[in-house]
Amino acid sequence: MNIAVLAGGLSTERDVSITSGSMVAKALRKKGHHIVLIDVFMGYEQDNFNVEKLFENGYDFTKDSFVGESIPDLAEVRSRRRDKSDRFFGEHVEDICRYADICFLALHGGDGENGKLQAALDLMGVKYTGSGYLASAAAMDKSVTKSIFLHHGVPTPNSICYRLSDWNDEACAKHSIYPCVVKPCSGGSSVGVSIVETPDEFKKAMEEAFRYETKVLVEQYIKGREFSVGVINGKALPIIEIIPKTGFYDYINKYQSGRTEEICPANLDEETTARMQREAEKAYDVLGLEGYGRVDFLLDNNGDMFSLEANTLPGMTSASLIPQEAAAEGIGYEDLCNKIVEVSLEKYK
Ligand SMILES: Nc1ncnc2c1ncn2[C@@H]1O[C@H](COP(=O)(O)OP(=O)(O)O)[C@@H](O)[C@H]1O
Ligand SMILES: [Mg+2]
Repeated sequence: MNIAVLAGGLSTERDVSITSGSMVAKALRKKGHHIVLIDVFMGYEQDNFNVEKLFENGYDFTKDSFVGESIPDLAEVRSRRRDKSDRFFGEHVEDICRYADICFLALHGGDGENGKLQAALDLMGVKYTGSGYLASAAAMDKSVTKSIFLHHGVPTPNSICYRLSDWNDEACAKHSIYPCVVKPCSGGSSVGVSIVETPDEFKKAMEEAFRYETKVLVEQYIKGREFSVGVINGKALPIIEIIPKTGFYDYINKYQSGRTEEICPANLDEETTARMQREAEKAYDVLGLEGYGRVDFLLDNNGDMFSLEANTLPGMTSASLIPQEAAAEGIGYEDLCNKIVEVSLEKYK
């Protein structure tokens, strides 16, 4: 097949996406597909564009990518674009998508994951991996996700959502739940997330979160263990436990190797394992996810579990959680990428 792997983009998770994309491209190439790995924002900026040739010869916009310790400088990325346009799609990206049999979305966060790209591709008549636009949008906004979870009985921590327009000193002073967790509603990779214990910390955390977005979620802090459950085509994979060596699962602990211990299959009794897997499948189902996704959980000392969120385009580096979970079930990385393509194509039949 001709497969366009879309990576990069302009979200705070740009770097992670480039790592995911280059690994997915490599894996699918090994499976015998013709692969064009393209930065959806930068596009193809050379003058010799010929889409047929590009797929025939293969194209990879980056060879050595890595995830830095801090979020990428997006203004700098914008300034590097040749035509300086403010369109989402870089040069020739639409031609590449149209020519491909399917696009593998190796994007994370922002406009790659929030449903806008999915809707645009639908209108262009382009097939892509993973969830459609509505589920993507619902899963991207944690306040929307939580209302759907509450409606369908998927357990999730109590929360309040603040809009920037209602935010002032009085609202801040009224807040009385500590410890709590402050997070931008549509963030990812823990960017802008803080765990706070005092009113002073709360004020600072809210200001920080509002730098990213005008909607901020304040959630009840759950003390306990953290897990994640990948779901492929509606069926849960083995559960992975996430144990950061220090602090919580923040940006650095997520992407710098050696900072977090991950155990898969997680050390949980049979009953808890089955319950968490059923909740993950239910979360996937009620949000309307398609193809694959990943649902995150906390488990407190009473054995109560809480779903934090669902990720519609979860990390796909070899160190990412879903590839580790698939491996625990005997599915290697290349087969996993191929499987995602296969299950995603089913919805177009
Ligand atoms: N209610 C909570 N209680 C305890 N820890 C939390 C809570 N919410 C988030 N966290 C911690 O913050 C991390 C990021 O939060 P999450 O809601 O998953 O946002 P993101 O989309 O950025 O991954 C989680 O992986 C977890 O370690
Ligand atoms: Mg998360």
